[in-house]
Amino acid sequence: MKNGLEDVVAAETQLSDVNGEAGQLVIRGVSLDRLVEYASYEDVVALLLDGLLEGVLEKDNLRKRLGQMRAEVFAHVRAIDDEMLELPPVDIIRALIARLVDGDDLETALRLLAAPAVFLPAILRLKRGETPVAPTPSLSQSADILTMLDATLPSKAQVAALDTYLVTISDHGLNASTFAARVVASTKAGLTSSVLAAISALKGPLHGGAPGPVLDMLDAVGTRENAESWLGQALDRGERLMGFGHRVYRVRDPRADALKGALKLMIAADQVDLDRMHLAEAVEQTALAILKERKPNRPLDVNVEFYTALLLDALKFPRDAFTGVFAIGRTIGWIAHALEQSLDGRLIRPRSVYVGPLPQAA
Ligand code: COA
Repeated sequence: MKNGLEDVVAAETQLSDVNGEAGQLVIRGVSLDRLVEYASYEDVVALLLDGLLEGVLEKDNLRKRLGQMRAEVFAHVRAIDDEMLELPPVDIIRALIARLVDGDDLETALRLLAAPAVFLPAILRLKRGETPVAPTPSLSQSADILTMLDATLPSKAQVAALDTYLVTISDHGLNASTFAARVVASTKAGLTSSVLAAISALKGPLHGGAPGPVLDMLDAVGTRENAESWLGQALDRGERLMGFGHRVYRVRDPRADALKGALKLMIAADQVDLDRMHLAEAVEQTALAILKERKPNRPLDVNVEFYTALLLDALKFPRDAFTGVFAIGRTIGWIAHALEQSLDGRLIRPRSVYVGPLPQAA
């Protein structure tokens, strides 16, 4: 038995390939660096769903239908009450998605793609005491999310940065949330159930819950001069440095550089706090040096969450909403994997080894 199923192959997929030794991510035959250069979020949705669902998924049609679906799911925002608003945003998204009908068709898939994109901005506005802004179906998903969040049209650089983020995190092999989605899909429970399971797996700090704590860490470090002693003391206390390390990558996570590229666009448009950026770069360099010294046998490099934190912060998402934004982007990966799993049709049912007392002793 391998604790954490490390290196265990549990599915065949045509969706994405994570090469941990080379630091490469390929999504349906396209490498991530090409994808972030040429593809929009809607392109990646079409790419990942291609051949998995009945229905027309040509890009312009997809953008239109996704926009209409955002307008439809907006009606569910009414279900948010004061008690729900006390929960973290990702938990409210999960509660609202649990109210949606289940199914395995294109309609259900589009509804699930639209839902977190509409719910998160509405939740954040309600938490701030503001009225939710209705979607604008003619906009792209990224432009509409930012418009619903701030009630103003975002800049080109902001839309491009969010789009790059959504493309970058769209799919990533058999990560914990995607595995959860495939397990549920293998029981034929439906796409909504698969996505709900995946969101539950995503929210933990070892998976999609890390970027908020990355900013907490940067705040606690405070200055570049303080980085070495703060990071050293954190490791002395047995803590993990958030935004570093990965189960599969033994080199730098390629998604970190894709997001750094998006941040550069925002820097050029003067929309990034440069002090925070310089502090982050100093923390990154110092952390890499200390981790190399302290864990010589375990290559630990920067992962996607480090630059996610900086990017989403620059886009003015509050840090407790970062996991929710991750869910917006990763839903397409969960749906595609759930569909692929259903097509394969085999129930996922591994075995466990009993190590408890024998009946007589018990
Ligand atoms: N900071 C310090 N040490 C780390 C570390 C980190 N971020 N990540 C791993 N390590 C160390 C562990 O302490 C362990 O050391 P040991 O062998 O001396 O006990 C060793 O590296 C292996 O750790 P392990 O828990 O087996 O790795 P994993 O594959 O289970 O963990 C993560 C992968 C992502 C859970 C882990 O790297 C982590 O907790 N990172 C921080 C959270 C994070 O950024 N999550 C987002 C992931 S995209």
